[in-house]
Amino acid sequence: MKKITHPTGLFDNSAKDYKYITAIPLAAAMGAEIQGVDLSNISDEAIEEIKDALFRHKLIYFRDQEITFEDHENLTLKFGEFGTDAYTKGVPGHENIQPVIKEAGVATKMVFGSGWHTDSAFLEQPPSIAINYGKDMPPYGGDTLFANSVLAYKALSPAMKKMIEPLKVWMSARNVVASMQAEQAEKNGEIAKLGSMELDVETQKMIEGYYHPLVRTHPVTGEKSLYVDKTYACGIEGMTEEESKPLIDFLSSFATQESFCCRLKWYSKTLIMWDNRVCLHQAFNDYDGFRREMYRAVVMGEKPE
Ligand code: SIN
Repeated sequence: MKKITHPTGLFDNSAKDYKYITAIPLAAAMGAEIQGVDLSNISDEAIEEIKDALFRHKLIYFRDQEITFEDHENLTLKFGEFGTDAYTKGVPGHENIQPVIKEAGVATKMVFGSGWHTDSAFLEQPPSIAINYGKDMPPYGGDTLFANSVLAYKALSPAMKKMIEPLKVWMSARNVVASMQAEQAEKNGEIAKLGSMELDVETQKMIEGYYHPLVRTHPVTGEKSLYVDKTYACGIEGMTEEESKPLIDFLSSFATQESFCCRLKWYSKTLIMWDNRVCLHQAFNDYDGFRREMYRAVVMGEKPE
């Protein structure tokens, strides 16, 4: 096993030697390609190794996978129950498979997943793992960026860690809903869309959101991570906005600094999985003129602790 240690010395993204899969690290900060498996027909032994690789590398991806909606559902269920995805009602006959599609002719200011975030953090039990299948991807553009929030937590000073440890962050879709409404108003009331997606959102509950620990602990690995982002983190319990905003701005920028990130280049038939408890991600809106067709399923997460 060749060690790939992050320059800070705080994270080791080297691959383990597995029996059923091969992991190839993507960057020093996180991420790995997994080779040697066909996800439409996978053994329980390989799934156990995939879980181990996912928890280790935070984001893993598989190239050249031919999967149906049923395969996508079956794969997701290997990780737990289906989680709640707050934005759409799924594809016909498969309510847990969310289409994330932008047609070539559509131009929009905001695509689904743009802005650094951790999925649906405004829910009481945000999804733990997301599994996205890129069916028809643009020849260039539309990459997804990921940031390792375990590494970010570790890199904070002891004094900052001590200060933020007891804090709770207010996760709310307030800003997302406002941006969607602004775009809707600009388009003369045309129904809210992100790219080509018809949205089905319960805005009131999403804005109400939830208070979660700012530093959370992974239920399997015990790793601590920063639970803060630029999209949903809207306040800190017991603080005024004047006090909380600079802290949230600092922590969310700190967590997404380039050296804590990896960048995934998509090709059609790539399937990726990430663990929302230990990373942030951001989709890019830079592929106007090309179709991008992706499907997404999520696993029910626990209440962050
Ligand atoms: C998401 O699931 O947040 C979107 C990811 C992407 O479109 O790359």
